[in-house]
Amino acid sequence: MSFTAQQIQSFKKIETPFYYYDLRVLRATLEIVQQYSKQYEYVVHYALKANANLRILHLIEKYGLGADCVSGNEVLRAVEAGFSPSHIAFAGVGKTDKEILTGLRHHIFSFNCESVQELEVINELAAQINTKARIALRLNPNVEADTHHYITTGLHENKFGISLQDLPAILDKMAQLKNLELTGIHFHIGSQITNLDNFKKLCLKINEIVKFFDEKQIKLTHINVGGGLGIDYLQPNVNPIADFANYFGVFHQYLQRRPHQAIHFELGRAIVAQCGSLISKVLFVKEGQQKKFAIIDAGMTELIRPALYQAHHEIEALTPEATTATVYDIVGPICESSDCFGTDRKLPTLQRGDLVAIRSAGAYGEVMASQYNLREKVRVLYNE
Ligand code: LLP
Repeated sequence: MSFTAQQIQSFKKIETPFYYYDLRVLRATLEIVQQYSKQYEYVVHYALKANANLRILHLIEKYGLGADCVSGNEVLRAVEAGFSPSHIAFAGVGKTDKEILTGLRHHIFSFNCESVQELEVINELAAQINTKARIALRLNPNVEADTHHYITTGLHENKFGISLQDLPAILDKMAQLKNLELTGIHFHIGSQITNLDNFKKLCLKINEIVKFFDEKQIKLTHINVGGGLGIDYLQPNVNPIADFANYFGVFHQYLQRRPHQAIHFELGRAIVAQCGSLISKVLFVKEGQQKKFAIIDAGMTELIRPALYQAHHEIEALTPEATTATVYDIVGPICESSDCFGTDRKLPTLQRGDLVAIRSAGAYGEVMASQYNLREKVRVLYNE
């Protein structure tokens, strides 16, 4: 059991469901990230989309990470949390004029751009307010990520990035856009990537692309390799911290870096996933025709990953006193059959009122919560 009797007692005082963030796990993770980024002089941006909780952001900012945002509101949240705008990258395939203006007014580090039209609009808006925008072109490297197809982003069939064949024409166009300054190139091939060979392939592709820029005598001051490092959803207690050593090691080994170039990363999941659990209470235990259901008070409204991506999250019963085990489908209260956190899970026998913890829920959990069925906003508890 990964929770102490004292923690379980404290859980009983709070109305469920709630997210429980263990900030000690987050700090331990950030220390490792800091160690490697210093060792290799890498710049790590935290991808706010994974978890934009202010308390968590404050802590991440203290460890010197930059921010990676995908909306105007994320840019504003990052600024509110204390991130310097000069460390904020703003990505996203569909930025509105209002969002672009937010980024321009804060003089952010870079707009990661994905189309000619986007470049034209940013140029026009920058001219209107008499400023220049720093641009990183998001390129589609056509590199496989071996992950769920919904979170694969770097293939020709995906909507993301500029295809390499369009690059020469885009560079010609950019030369005419006087309120833009090309500073870097950006990639992101997908998320929850555990086979590091995919990152090696990305590095080799980037090396070819950088050669092309060298030939054109275009100086890129930064290469942003995106995020995507996966975590161990099956064994969160055995591997509470992602394999940053080998991940950064792959880039160190395979990415050829020019002396003037900074290497940037945008990590979300690997930083925050393991510090969060969704704590929920068993409402009813129901004997079906073929199955036993444990119906809990958290639903896909609080954690949509299992319903949306068939994602696996470990489920732990917080019942130290239970002596027998039973196989359950753990389901939520929402009126959808996809509202299921796990099928055929063997757990200590559950009673009404028992607590369960859905693990590895710190990333893409709270941020993706919805009010469907007029659910209440999910509560949060922190362990300092
Ligand atoms: N940079 C870009 C451009 C991205 O699109 C993403 C994630 C990241 C960085 C951060 O990726 P990470 O290090 O967290 O893998 N909701 C899904 C994940 C969606 C990821 C979207 N993009 C899930 O729950 O698995």
